[in-house]
Amino acid sequence: MNLIEIERTLRQLRLSGMADTLSTRVMEAQVGQPPFLETLANLLQDELDRRRSRLTERRYKRSGLDERPTLADFDWRFNPKLPRAACFELHTLKFVGEGANALIIGKPGTGKSHVAKAVAYQATLQGYDVRHVEADTEFARYGLASAPEQAGLLKGWIEPDLLILDDLFLARRIADVSAELLQAIVHQRYKLRRAIVITSNRVVQDWGKYLGDATMATTILDRLMHRCSMLEFEGRSYRLKEAAARIAVTPEQA
Ligand SMILES: Nc1ncnc2c1ncn2[C@@H]1O[C@H](COP(=O)(O)OP(=O)(O)O)[C@@H](O)[C@H]1O
Ligand SMILES: [Mg+2]
Repeated sequence: MNLIEIERTLRQLRLSGMADTLSTRVMEAQVGQPPFLETLANLLQDELDRRRSRLTERRYKRSGLDERPTLADFDWRFNPKLPRAACFELHTLKFVGEGANALIIGKPGTGKSHVAKAVAYQATLQGYDVRHVEADTEFARYGLASAPEQAGLLKGWIEPDLLILDDLFLARRIADVSAELLQAIVHQRYKLRRAIVITSNRVVQDWGKYLGDATMATTILDRLMHRCSMLEFEGRSYRLKEAAARIAVTPEQA
């Protein structure tokens, strides 16, 4: 077989990671004359790398994340009171393995969603099945769905290793069907020891009001808080800072 035929065969064998680097590795071998085993090992590593990055990409797509924020692009000086150590602790993903939860509660624009998404993104990189959900929007969609569709949606929120419910109670009071859904999610994931991260502008003392049922709030919080880190986000809104910066730019400067 010549080079082209070998490349074609690799593709037939679904070894496209090797096929892509074959000609480079052959040239490398001709120049440096490394031991055959070294070239073979490099080619196998190319295939492994390709597969790993493809799986990671697939996990990212499935997660529902719309961006890839990290803790490295977070400015910790902007709101110095944020629980920085607790954020990095979440980022280690130990809580995912333990099936524990995290509640990130605090003022709008302080970076709650940013941190939750950074943790979620890190989890996709580490091989976890993750689902990020804009809670109010997705819960409303669930309310309008048919029974079989609802079963499918619920399954998609129970099965992942890590579920992020972002901006819960953004619109304050949620519909009864949404409240029951939240209860089902929390109860089932608690039984299966699967991790949840919730971000919200609403303090837990008020959850009864937004669920329209104080007892339900107690049973939900009881399970959520059994194994849970509480992160309080106090500070200024980064969104307002960005908006102010835009306004501050005069037309001549722009
Ligand atoms: N300290 C920060 N450093 C950098 N960007 C930040 C910081 N806090 C917030 N942001 C950015 O500001 C925007 C709003 O933050 P977000 O996480 O959505 O706030 P919250 O969920 O608390 O309302 C996002 O684009 C986020 O990336
Ligand atoms: Mg948010």
